[in-house]
Amino acid sequence: MYSFWKRWFRKDASLDVTNRVKDVKDCEVPRHIAIIMDGNGRWAKKRALPRVAGHHEGMKVVRRITRLANVLGVKTLTVYAFSTENWKRPRSEVEYLMKLPQEFLGTFLPELVTENVQVKMIGDKTALPGHTRSAVDKAMEETKANDGMVLNFALNYGSRAEIIEAVNKVVTDSKNGIIGENVTEELFSNYLMTSQLPDPDLLIRTSGEIRLSNFMLWQAAYSEFWFTDVLWPDFSEEHLLDAIEVYQRRSRRYGGV
Ligand code: FPP
Repeated sequence: MYSFWKRWFRKDASLDVTNRVKDVKDCEVPRHIAIIMDGNGRWAKKRALPRVAGHHEGMKVVRRITRLANVLGVKTLTVYAFSTENWKRPRSEVEYLMKLPQEFLGTFLPELVTENVQVKMIGDKTALPGHTRSAVDKAMEETKANDGMVLNFALNYGSRAEIIEAVNKVVTDSKNGIIGENVTEELFSNYLMTSQLPDPDLLIRTSGEIRLSNFMLWQAAYSEFWFTDVLWPDFSEEHLLDAIEVYQRRSRRYGGV
């Protein structure tokens, strides 16, 4: 039986998108897609709107992309919603961004629960305002029994901080005899915030910037990158399919031949 999302998707999607979805599903779909959602501010500026209008539109795009990723059978979708560096923005913008998880999950959570999506988060939760933390905690709690796609929010996330925290924990555990002195890649990965998640197969960044901006530096070692000039609020289902189709034509050799 078709789930709500499949029915929703068929009703809304053009014939072209529906056919492309079928074709994409016939090939290997990336297990983990990670997205650096960039260009919200420029999108707003082009329309003479305040920057936060771009963030709001960007939030709506997350909803659409989550639905499509789930229909496609993606196992993990990570969205970089707030970096450890984003605190440097004007206070009003930070406050607005911190309210978005509440708004997003306030309306979308019931659908995520029904559609078997698990909400997770990477990043330093302790520095988030209480209302942001409770919205994320509630979503994680209500979806914890789900075993379908993981919607992973990178929120107050910074890869260097994550790596340093992991190194410190490794040192402590080694000193306390919990682990030995020989640290392997596999063991180290288990100390990262992504320990329960596969590494991203496909990493997307919008808005024409070609850099990682402190995002998943360890985990992206073998990711395929797809960059687009499209600003995040303009990112559509078609763009996600474009990225996956390019991914499916790539040959991943992991250093081999
Ligand atoms: C970068 O664009 C974007 C961000 C720092 C925030 C991304 C957040 C969202 C898309 C909202 C999603 C939130 C939830 C809870 C689903 P920018 O502001 O740096 O754009 P610019 O480079 O054009 O100025």
